[in-house]
Amino acid sequence: PEISFKHEDLKVRLAAPYQLTPKPEVADLGFGKYFTDHMLKINFFKQLGGWQKPEIMPFENLSLHPAAKALHYAIQLFEGLKAYRGVDDKIRLFRPELNMERMNLAAQRSGLPTFDGDELIKCVSRLVQIDQEWVPHSETSTLYIRPTLIGTEPTFGIMAPESALLFVILSPVSAYYKTGGDGAVSIFADPNVVRAFPGGVGNRKVGSNYGPTIEATARAAKLGHHQVLWLFGPNHELTEVGAMNIFVVYINEQGDKQLSTPPLNGLILPGVTRRSILELASQWEDLVVTEEVLTMDKIVELNKKGRLLEMFGAGTAVVISPISRVGFLEHEIRVPTMTQAQPVYQRVKDTLLAIQYGHIEHPYAKVIS
Ligand code: COI
Repeated sequence: PEISFKHEDLKVRLAAPYQLTPKPEVADLGFGKYFTDHMLKINFFKQLGGWQKPEIMPFENLSLHPAAKALHYAIQLFEGLKAYRGVDDKIRLFRPELNMERMNLAAQRSGLPTFDGDELIKCVSRLVQIDQEWVPHSETSTLYIRPTLIGTEPTFGIMAPESALLFVILSPVSAYYKTGGDGAVSIFADPNVVRAFPGGVGNRKVGSNYGPTIEATARAAKLGHHQVLWLFGPNHELTEVGAMNIFVVYINEQGDKQLSTPPLNGLILPGVTRRSILELASQWEDLVVTEEVLTMDKIVELNKKGRLLEMFGAGTAVVISPISRVGFLEHEIRVPTMTQAQPVYQRVKDTLLAIQYGHIEHPYAKVIS
């Protein structure tokens, strides 16, 4: 492993007052359209001994050689986490160490340099402190943190890059999806396209998992769906949805309510929200919680028997998104998620938000300011 950069070496150059941009209204935020006044950059140059000193500076464009490996071979990765302004006005991160772990795994896979996650968390915390007025004063919005690592070496060889850039930018965001009144989304399962395969990178947060989904997502959108539900194999196993992991709530053979999500078999992004839901809900005594292979046949069958209660997506960007409709071949599955008396998705969402916005103290939430 590389010798990591250190937060003690952080150099800070603040924006001049005339460089500061006005903050948008919460109602205009959307997702990832606005950026804050500062950014973090950490260069890696193998010839200079590896990681250089981290720098916080006014937000600026990058300058890249057109041959930079990231631009040709997608030698890059990204992460997504959020800073929340709590009821006590303190700013919290949610399990950032899990994003750091995942980032290092993706770096390894693409020959990008690894680093000490705690050091990056400290640098990011400083960046968020500097731009803290950008953390929305609202419980429907957050500051989305986007760490990115790209191979910058300007040569065409498909090899580990000798130079790289880790940068972190911040974007105040509200809801990811544009939905109708009830906030439910609709997804389309297209068995003719595949997102990931065994031995691939479906379990790593690399840009190349997302770019090639655009065409299929556009086809789904034409049919009135928000995103694609990615299936795998002849049995049409559910893996994940465009920007989220998937959960199903149903009545099992024993007559008990079961919360279920596909297992981490290499085809699925190991979501921080996904993991947190499994950990939290496994303590709820009225619910059976499982990771299990779920096929489209099973979903169709459960629905026919009236035992399919809910489906929802979970992710940092989408938080918890109830799903009310699934298109699949000739099937149009109406999921009664929105008509449950005490839906599991709402309980999960309320629990997560209570932790994230500091309504309850919980070890998942880390106060940084
Ligand atoms: C997330 O941060 O939750 C994501 O899945 C990123 C997404 C917008 C691609």
